[in-house]
Amino acid sequence: MTAAQFAHLPLLPPYLEPIHHQFTKGVNFASAGGAVLHQHNNGAMDLPTQVIHFKTVVKTLKQEIGDAEAEKVLSRAVYLFSNGGNDYFSFSTNNRNATPSQQAQFVGMVIGNLTSILKELYGLGVRKIAFQNVGPLGCTPTMKFVLDSPHASECVEPPLALATLHNKALAEALKNLETKLPGFKYSIFDYYHELLDRIKNPSKYGFENGETACCGGGKYRAFYCGGGGSGTHPFDVCKDPNEYVWFDGAHTTEKTNNQLAHLIWSGEPPVTGPYNLQQLFEHA
Ligand SMILES: *[C@@H]1O[C@H](CO)[C@@H](O)[C@H](O)[C@H]1NC(C)=O
Repeated sequence: MTAAQFAHLPLLPPYLEPIHHQFTKGVNFASAGGAVLHQHNNGAMDLPTQVIHFKTVVKTLKQEIGDAEAEKVLSRAVYLFSNGGNDYFSFSTNNRNATPSQQAQFVGMVIGNLTSILKELYGLGVRKIAFQNVGPLGCTPTMKFVLDSPHASECVEPPLALATLHNKALAEALKNLETKLPGFKYSIFDYYHELLDRIKNPSKYGFENGETACCGGGKYRAFYCGGGGSGTHPFDVCKDPNEYVWFDGAHTTEKTNNQLAHLIWSGEPPVTGPYNLQQLFEHA
């Protein structure tokens, strides 16, 4: 299940799909590797670029259905965000010996940029937003490999520290926006702790392996599921992905995603709050 399916909406078409959609039932701006801050040379559409695309949708929608109707659609819609993971992934790999104050400074930059984007979106008529916070980045098979974890069961600390700082600052920033911006409502799903618990206690959730990926090559099957960019790297695929929390080095299996989607939709605090997705949709 996806959020769209829970909400009885069609699966969201990608913004760049070369077919004309009216987008009144939603649109997906996500981009693989997309970060909050601009990153050179990774070819992804970062969050500011996604906002430019959103502005185009707002303009088109107003032309097609009129200002009043478009404003209704925009303020009733729920906007899903999952941001920061790629920023912290790059920071951790490029700044292996960052001090706590350098970490805090970087998190401040990500949250500062994110907050100004949210204010800008509010100005465009956005009212209901739902975040998945940053996951336990130091426990992805890819991170464990890149940062030389000595053992599959050991997560690497610096990315976990960044994620924890970010998640705390995100919760504060959203709470703050709610007090300042009339009608602004939000949800945060605690992806970090929900995923970490599945990694550490897989059997509690019907998994056998929370440490290595189902698909990939090398240590922890951390990379090259599908053969990598060139398609030529050797890799293995497990027999039953349902036994695994991780499908590849950085992405969870459908079974994991399905469990998490249920919590995003109808989880209660402290897992999902102050609203869950279902409540955001039901709020007029
Ligand atoms: C946004 O990020 C840039 C770096 O990409 C930084 O220089 C700037 O201070 C950040 N803005 C805020 C409001 O934190």
